[in-house]
Amino acid sequence: MKRTLGTCYYPEHWDRAIWEEDAKRMAEAGLTWVRIGEFAWSRIEPTPGVLMWEWLDEAIEILGKAGLKVVLGTPTATPPRWMLDRHPDMLAVDKEGRPRGFGSRRHYCFSHEGYRTECARIVELLAARYGANPAIAAWQTDNEYGCHDTTISYSDAARQAFQGWLANRYQSTAALNAAWGNVFWSMEYQDFEQVGLPNLTVTEPNPAHSIDFRRFSSDQVASFNRLQVEIIRRYSEAPIAHNYMGRVTDFDHFKVGDDLEIASWDSYPLGFLEDRGGANPARQRAFMRQGDPDFQAFHHDLYRAVGRGRWWVMEQQPGPVNWAPFNPAPLPGMVRLWTWEAFAHGAEAVCYFRWRQAPFAQEQMHAGLLRPDSVEAPAMAEAREVAAETKDASEIAPLKAQVALIFDYDAEWAWQIQPHGAGLSYFDLVLAHYCALRRAGLSVDILPPTAEIPDHVRMVLAPGLMHMDAALKERLNKCRAQVLIGPRGGARDANMATPVPLPPAFPDLDVTVARAESLRPDMPMALAGGGHVTGYREEIESTEEAVLSLKDGTPVAVQRGNITYMAGWGDDAALDRLVAMMAAEAGVPITPLPDGVRVRETATERFWFNYGAEPAECPAGVLPPAGVLREEKV
Ligand code: GAL
Repeated sequence: MKRTLGTCYYPEHWDRAIWEEDAKRMAEAGLTWVRIGEFAWSRIEPTPGVLMWEWLDEAIEILGKAGLKVVLGTPTATPPRWMLDRHPDMLAVDKEGRPRGFGSRRHYCFSHEGYRTECARIVELLAARYGANPAIAAWQTDNEYGCHDTTISYSDAARQAFQGWLANRYQSTAALNAAWGNVFWSMEYQDFEQVGLPNLTVTEPNPAHSIDFRRFSSDQVASFNRLQVEIIRRYSEAPIAHNYMGRVTDFDHFKVGDDLEIASWDSYPLGFLEDRGGANPARQRAFMRQGDPDFQAFHHDLYRAVGRGRWWVMEQQPGPVNWAPFNPAPLPGMVRLWTWEAFAHGAEAVCYFRWRQAPFAQEQMHAGLLRPDSVEAPAMAEAREVAAETKDASEIAPLKAQVALIFDYDAEWAWQIQPHGAGLSYFDLVLAHYCALRRAGLSVDILPPTAEIPDHVRMVLAPGLMHMDAALKERLNKCRAQVLIGPRGGARDANMATPVPLPPAFPDLDVTVARAESLRPDMPMALAGGGHVTGYREEIESTEEAVLSLKDGTPVAVQRGNITYMAGWGDDAALDRLVAMMAAEAGVPITPLPDGVRVRETATERFWFNYGAEPAECPAGVLPPAGVLREEKV
């Protein structure tokens, strides 16, 4: 399969008179894909039951005739205003019990049955009308589930659905009371209808209650998506995608991804650096116009796993955006670099958001490939350049990486519910390990916690997995790779209770976490030989060999055979040491890279990227700022 480009287009925003010209310009620029429709419900159905298809028929025909492949979005992220008159209680409710308002988007609760029925109706109409249309080459369900903090809703609809979910899971309130430990503080229930949602409690709710609510909320997203997918499949053979987000972790993307052919995500490197990358101010300054050197790559690898190999960037930042605290323009060359980086991680397509900058409404300050006056914006030349380069580039040949990193959404929720110290986040912990692997020049495959460890994998990093069932422990224990677990490995059982024997209770490993403490971030504890434990530390009882210790000799990482347990949160220097140690034991060669330089391999090529604002040396030569170097592998 060839690497392809596309864009996101809103024919309903523009005069019909320019659609043909737009389509011609897209094709001439070398774009293959055009995504449309995902916010167009009020134009498809201006009043209930009155359907206006003509404009959409025409837009699809024009785009198709220009040789473009259309990705058709279902419009369910933007229910029109009349929907609220029909279903006044369809709005999601925030943690404080306030319904969210109309006037932007994603104003619905995943649990509202009436809204689900409306979604099924509009998706069926759309799929029936366009399912066999040859211009429709792919579908997108909804838009960015969970964006704007919309996965979790404390509505009546959610409460009722949660009670049903619990009844199904536990069968009896006696079982629920036992599993949650409700004897503590006399929280026992006699009827599932008595169970409320874990908000507005006087002090913190029972963590078992909270984790089940998080799992329920995640399941609601998966079933909402599945409802749409099952309808589309009855009418169309085209693949179905969803466009996920950066660092949105409130639902289990692996579960949603299981129902889709393609995973895609929306990559806004400069926006993310400012508002969710976890970068410190120095790093934000250094990479202000380039984005974090690892944040995109991490999500590329995560969503490749979610898509079981098939993944796209559905929206790529082409210039300044409108929504982060600061919105600089990218360094010349970065749009090309971001695009090639996605291809290097196996993307089938990269689509730029958006075709033309809008002169009205919320996103006026968000760049497109064209300015509002239709003159080309700077990103267009870079998109053209990549389009020309991909013509002769090789087909996608995914790498089977020797290094795997496990990412578990359930662990993310567990850490959020019981962080033990301010600012301790599972996502940040996993990202820190990922960055250490990338600093060592390693290409990584991300795995869900349910995956078998493939035989070609020689190093597995599984930090922070608070829930490790016996099967997961067994898979890690019996695999041939060097395995890293901890901190907080198996620290809680599935109901957020502390298991006895005490964690990690890993087979054949003599480690007991006797006590856990969190630390002020400005009070790190120095390791002998370099690096620190920072933020979180465990005191362990162990007879295994210590491979990292505090300066006073207290063991921090211990090892037996191919299993290493890390009893604390290592800073970058500590993680670099751990990675180097494991790689040496696994026989995986590492290439420590200068800051900002990154490498990614496919089965046949090696790509070097310079995220730095200055030229940088890499083993393949000198990279200019925002430079990309592609080598054939020998
Ligand atoms: C995405 C969203 C788009 C647009 C874009 C702006 O999150 O899917 O519709 O709002 O952000 O950066």
